[in-house]
Amino acid sequence: MLSKEENELLTQTGPGTIMGDLMREYWMPAMMSVELQNPDGQQVRLKLLGEDLIAFRDTNGKVGVIGNSCPHRGASMFYARNEECGLRCVYHGWHFAADGTCLDMPSEPPESRFIDKVRAISYKVEERGGLIWVYMGPRQEAPPLPSLVANMMPEGQYTVSGYYSECNWMQSLEGDYDTSHVSFLHNGAREPEEIPDPDVTFERYALKTRWARDSVTDTEFGCTSGNNRPAEEDTTYWRIAHFLFPFYAMIPASFREKGFIAVVPMDDENCMRWHISTRNPALPRPPGFGGPPIVDGMITSFHVDSSRNGTGWFDRFKIAGTRENDYLVDRDAQKARVGGLGYSGIPGRGQDNGMTESMGVVYKRDQEHLGTTDAGIIRMRRILARAAIALREDGTVPATVDNPDLYKVRSVSTLIPNGVNGIEATQDLQWAALSEEQQATG
Ligand code: FES
Ligand SMILES: [Fe+2]
Repeated sequence: MLSKEENELLTQTGPGTIMGDLMREYWMPAMMSVELQNPDGQQVRLKLLGEDLIAFRDTNGKVGVIGNSCPHRGASMFYARNEECGLRCVYHGWHFAADGTCLDMPSEPPESRFIDKVRAISYKVEERGGLIWVYMGPRQEAPPLPSLVANMMPEGQYTVSGYYSECNWMQSLEGDYDTSHVSFLHNGAREPEEIPDPDVTFERYALKTRWARDSVTDTEFGCTSGNNRPAEEDTTYWRIAHFLFPFYAMIPASFREKGFIAVVPMDDENCMRWHISTRNPALPRPPGFGGPPIVDGMITSFHVDSSRNGTGWFDRFKIAGTRENDYLVDRDAQKARVGGLGYSGIPGRGQDNGMTESMGVVYKRDQEHLGTTDAGIIRMRRILARAAIALREDGTVPATVDNPDLYKVRSVSTLIPNGVNGIEATQDLQWAALSEEQQATG
């Protein structure tokens, strides 16, 4: 349970807010590279941490992220001409480069030097592993990108997908760090026998025993949660998940993938969820555990309904199920209790969105009743709040801002002998060097 003030601290990320300042210390995955396919192609409205931005790929292929409002008299740069290495506002022709420099001011007389005084708001951009990263922080020299393994793989050995959630980022991220909901929301109608080979995934133990205990440890990158339950007579099934600053979750890797989820605030009422995984094409996913469709070796969408998507601020990567259509809940399927749909009756990603969005746009945490398996969520909130306050009070930033190697960890899903702490016992596995065929490129 959180007070109103504690809840506001965690959930608000606009300019000048305590949590917003912490977020601005970090690079943020903001878009997929495929969203800006061609040089001088169509620009995209991008909402990040409450700011209205326009993203574009310039004539040389470089991505720029600049303020939506033209520095002249505020017309939207969404309508600008993308040409000659910059965006040219169509109102009076002022032309701005990706770094915000004004390149041309054709409406001013030749003797005017106003061009040297005007700049567009612009943020630093990097592209890596199919993602466009944006740094909105205060430093002249941006910190290094986080060494998240799945974002550093060669082409063809990673997947990128995303979907939009119409709710505050914090409750969406809490859903990822809560690994106990999987046995209910997603798999509540599945029987353990449906998971044929426990060597491929230990998921069957999460169906055999649906309750779990939780053990949480602070780490340099954030915290680790070890959700555990009985497996065979002498073993315990451990699902070891990580929270990493400021908005990443690594959930237990059923498919031998080293993946992460980023829940990036668009503003306080909307967020974008990125799911990035390493992918060994030689290892197919086990039956019954489908993922998003793969297009040309790279996943480009995740149950996204293209007919619902457009050019508006919140029109990217929307799924079919929404508040308005009750997430397409099928009451007959819910009654029949069969397969992945049969517990909730809700298809696809609407399961997660249906739960996190239905809590209210910004969940008021003064009404909740946290159980023992919510220990990870409690710790994550505490760590985030503590770090944000430390930054505000004495300017300290978490170690993860300047040490990218702290992100080279992975989640684990495995059997451990009874009585052993799974988080401690799997340290080598969590930090294992990459295998030869999965060498990082950077
Ligand atoms: S408002 Fe953009 S050039 Fe005038
Ligand atoms: Fe989920």
